[in-house]
Amino acid sequence: MAEILLGVTGGAAAFKAVSLASLLRKSGHTVNCILTEAATEFVTPVQFSAVSGMPCYTDLFSSQPAVSIPHITLTDNLDLMIVAPATAHFIARAALGLGDDLLTSAFLACSSPVLIAPAMNTRMWNNPAVQSNASILSSRGIRFAGPVSGKLACGTTGDGRLMEPSDIAEICFNILDGGGVL
Ligand SMILES: Cc1cc2nc3c(=O)[nH]c(=O)nc-3n(C[C@H](O)[C@H](O)[C@H](O)COP(=O)(O)O)c2cc1C
Repeated sequence: MAEILLGVTGGAAAFKAVSLASLLRKSGHTVNCILTEAATEFVTPVQFSAVSGMPCYTDLFSSQPAVSIPHITLTDNLDLMIVAPATAHFIARAALGLGDDLLTSAFLACSSPVLIAPAMNTRMWNNPAVQSNASILSSRGIRFAGPVSGKLACGTTGDGRLMEPSDIAEICFNILDGGGVL
């Protein structure tokens, strides 16, 4: 069974990542989770440790849970890294190669396939800076799941909705089976 690292960033769809973590674990995979500081405004580490059965990580420097260099340890034997939902802010930091928190540092240290599932307001997603950052990551081999079109947290309808957790999970299983993105 695979070792998966799920990164959750601070978007309105962060609660859906709890279902994703649960689906991945129920399929027999080991799922470690990292929440950004902003993500903890929307969801709690306890939710993720409860569904994953593993500690949930938030801090680059904290010794809780007890892992000495978490961004390295969590990526040492990784089969797949997922960031869902991925904010515009995370996509920008990843494209720039910043490592200013645990999630971006883990992303930089990761040598496994990475799947990013963006979610944001339509105008944000269509912003040339966001599109350019997503293109940069794509050109480096990072896979994208969505976003899809639909009803958004801000009340509008359009591109920027997080792909359904079950659909993201299917793409993960496909990648783990050696395939590409569907
Ligand atoms: C209520 C609320 C909802 C937000 N939803 C999103 C979102 O869906 N997508 C996004 O890119 N940013 C969203 N943001 C902005 C991010 O929280 C902000 O850019 C933050 O710095 C992201 O940090 P992170 O990428 O480190 O998690 C939202 C902010 C608020 C206050």
